[in-house]
Amino acid sequence: MRAADTTTDGDPTASARRPRNDPGQYDDLADEWWRPDGAFAMLHWLAAARAALVPPASRPDALLVDIGCGAGLLAPHVVDKGYRHVGVDLVGSALRQAAGHGVVPVNGDATAVPLATGCADVVAVGELLEHVPDWPAAVAQACRVLRPGGTLVLDTLNDTALSRLLAVAVAERLPGVPRGIHDPGLFVDARALVAECARYGVRLRVRGVRPELPGTLRWLARRAVPGRRGRPTPAGRAPRIVPTFSSAVLYQGRGMKDG
Ligand SMILES: C[S@@+](CC[C@H](N)C(=O)[O-])C[C@H]1O[C@@H](n2cnc3c(N)ncnc32)[C@H](O)[C@@H]1O
Repeated sequence: MRAADTTTDGDPTASARRPRNDPGQYDDLADEWWRPDGAFAMLHWLAAARAALVPPASRPDALLVDIGCGAGLLAPHVVDKGYRHVGVDLVGSALRQAAGHGVVPVNGDATAVPLATGCADVVAVGELLEHVPDWPAAVAQACRVLRPGGTLVLDTLNDTALSRLLAVAVAERLPGVPRGIHDPGLFVDARALVAECARYGVRLRVRGVRPELPGTLRWLARRAVPGRRGRPTPAGRAPRIVPTFSSAVLYQGRGMKDG
């Protein structure tokens, strides 16, 4: 499937009629960002898991740069860690929501981040790289803005047949999951990502992750009950993202920059 393919498939939403991976989809789906049971529900679960990899700030004025921050879903999970949270994204409607959650918004492209070299104590790159046609350029920028001794945390989808099957062919047919949000041609090979980070002195360690099964089944069952979909997930009941033996689909990475 190429980036120019469209994804009508009878889906009435404007988003589904756009080309795959069109950033305009995030405008179409802007009201979904902060709905815990909405189209971006899994991004909430992933944000919690990503935040767990972020160390507490080691100095006053420490900066966390969140590249491809979307509507700032990471913010509530890092708010107590002591960082100034700066978010970089292409999409204005998402950045405005991020600002409402305490993120300092910066409009910019992940491949040309308008921030100073070495400014960040932590760089977070959550569910972004699989949306960037030139992902090595985005990695170069993430590593550039990271200070020596700083921490890079990321998660993305692996460039495997299983990942394309589960994240696109299966997931995009589930009710409530946006169609065409991913271009499987852009998925990121985990070994290539580790090698790319190493070029910039960031020793990335990756591990496979997945949503835990019982919580996910409970969550799906709740959503299937008429009248319950759209209501917030009760506190503490969102499915957790847990480590798994294989990084063939979804994986997290964490690494410190030399120096
Ligand atoms: C799947 S969302 C993830 C958002 C956020 N990191 C999270 O996990 O909630 C991908 C985000 O990346 C942004 N994005 C895609 N391509 C980008 C690029 N080249 N530069 C900056 N942001 C980009 C989109 O606008 C969107 O907000």
